[in-house]
Amino acid sequence: MSNLTGKIGLVTGAGSGIGRATAIELARQGATVTVTDIDERTAIETTEMIRTEGGEALTATVDIADEHSVRTAVERTVETYGGLDFAVNNAGMASHHRQLDRMTLDEFERVVQVNLSGTFLCMKHELPAMRSRGGGAIVNIASAGGLCAIPTAPAYVAAKHGVVGLTKVAAVDYAPAGIRVNAVCPGPTRTPGFEAVAATASTGTDLTAMQEAATPLGRLATPEEAAAAAVWLCSDAASYVTGIAMSVDGGGRRA
Ligand SMILES: NC(=O)c1ccc[n+]([C@@H]2O[C@H](COP(=O)([O-])OP(=O)(O)OC[C@H]3O[C@@H](n4cnc5c(N)ncnc54)[C@H](O)[C@@H]3O)[C@@H](O)[C@H]2O)c1
Repeated sequence: MSNLTGKIGLVTGAGSGIGRATAIELARQGATVTVTDIDERTAIETTEMIRTEGGEALTATVDIADEHSVRTAVERTVETYGGLDFAVNNAGMASHHRQLDRMTLDEFERVVQVNLSGTFLCMKHELPAMRSRGGGAIVNIASAGGLCAIPTAPAYVAAKHGVVGLTKVAAVDYAPAGIRVNAVCPGPTRTPGFEAVAATASTGTDLTAMQEAATPLGRLATPEEAAAAAVWLCSDAASYVTGIAMSVDGGGRRA
């Protein structure tokens, strides 16, 4: 029996990529999962995948940039299953690749609103639910870009550094409440989101090949490899781990 058996969790952006792989693995390890995404159709698909394997899940349509929908999803989880033990705040968006002086304030603010403020809103409503349960675990999916520069991605990198900062402060502030807060920082990972960015790369640029060549392990991550780190951080196996930003990046970048 896994140490997630009987635990109740919530995953954002669980209709695709890393979020879907995380929700499925959490359920395989015995957790009950609230599957949330801004895209209701893909969230329902993930819920059905979990139920097909005999797991327990419910679907909630959530825009993490909208406080009402975030609060409602947390409340529904608590009402339906009796509490919230852990959350994986994974939903995020990529940005167009542009240098800072070519970016409008609207573009910058939208990327920050979803990736950073959205993660803040999730934590704001998850933390009290966990505190009233006597403890819990939060995993924020940041990025390698939360730890170092990605050229021409100023808004994304600023937002993801912010996610790592939120993680570190919350880890300290909520340790007395028994809540662990960590971040996972994936490198390039083969997800629908990554494929969409690769498809918009300028003509003649093979983003996948470039990323593979730049990574010591010589390939992209699978969504399941990033999910494995998030699931471990949610579990009691990581009971003395809080405030870290865990790289899952194939060894970082070659110089
Ligand atoms: N794939 C990579 O190479 C990579 C690398 C580093 C970090 N990440 C991060 O991992 C996370 C997941 O990325 P992915 O590659 O699996 O992406 P993805 O695009 O495949 O999946 C993201 C999911 O988030 C949902 N979403 C987007 N905006 C939302 C919102 N406002 N509210 C709720 N849901 C929303 C989408 O509908 C989608 O289902 C993101 O935070 C991303 O920044 C990805």
